[in-house]
Amino acid sequence: MRNPPLDRWPRARLARLLAVLALTALPWAAAAFDVQGHRGARGLAPENTLAGFRAALAAGATTWELDVGLTRDGAVVVSHDRRLNPELTRDAAGRWLEPPTPTLAALSLAELQAHDVGRLRPGSRYAAQWPQQRAADGERIPTLDAVFELAGREAPASLRFNIETKLSPLAPDETAPPEAMVDALLAVIDRHGLRGRVTVQSFDWRTLALVHRRAPGVATAALSVQRPDLDNIASGAWTAGLSLAEHGGSVPRLVKALGAPVWSPNFRDLTPERLAEARALGLRVIPWTVNDPADIARLVAWGVDGIISDYPGRVVQALPPR
Ligand code: G3P
Ligand code: CA
Repeated sequence: MRNPPLDRWPRARLARLLAVLALTALPWAAAAFDVQGHRGARGLAPENTLAGFRAALAAGATTWELDVGLTRDGAVVVSHDRRLNPELTRDAAGRWLEPPTPTLAALSLAELQAHDVGRLRPGSRYAAQWPQQRAADGERIPTLDAVFELAGREAPASLRFNIETKLSPLAPDETAPPEAMVDALLAVIDRHGLRGRVTVQSFDWRTLALVHRRAPGVATAALSVQRPDLDNIASGAWTAGLSLAEHGGSVPRLVKALGAPVWSPNFRDLTPERLAEARALGLRVIPWTVNDPADIARLVAWGVDGIISDYPGRVVQALPPR
């Protein structure tokens, strides 16, 4: 049956239609507080694994934060490290890897997935950091396809994906170049029709500038860290040619100049003043990686738009009842 022209629609039906349109057209910028499960839920389950993403969902995450790299044969895989991590990786014979380990880029998908990443190496410093993490032996480094398929089967359609491109301008030989990584990533996102549900994030803003050019509808988040031992802002090498000095020393202004709608600072770098400045520029602010309940409560009280946490359940608990 064909609909009559809009001006002849009954008022109630028109109002209903406008309400639906308003809701669907509502920019996700106006969405509810974003509880992001970091690497799934690293505090509870092996990071960047299907078990971890399930744990994040069970803990109440509204977004899965995850990291991606590219294998030798061009598969987009979900892993934080440019090289297999000896603190969480066993080979097909069950032996813990010893450094130097291969880069993801040097392995085919089949070679990569021969490894088990479902348990932290007993006695390692990394294992001591995550005492509540429950092992899930047999977990493999998943492809991004598999993560999207899992979400399709088990997650609500409102779930979002905050996907971090893991590459470094200082280690160009260890990963695919930014163009290849962005092209491969966008191809997977498009295969699943998920442009509207992803954010691409990176410390290496070159990939974000590429996303803006190649897929203008895809949201991006500019990551920043300005600690004495780790800084991706000061040198200009990570910020796609943008210079802090040319933007009044303001990271929010730098993010705005890049064109990213989200600023994700290390939470220790955030102050109420910087939050207010970012807001005035129209940016959403989603700090990482916040695990201490007191820090989470403070940032919620300041009014951040979301929090990335290894314990997404702690963020849920800190939110006012709805
Ligand atoms: O989302 C940002 C956060 O994940 C960055 O830190 O090192 O855990 O990827 P990292
Ligand atoms: Ca990450």
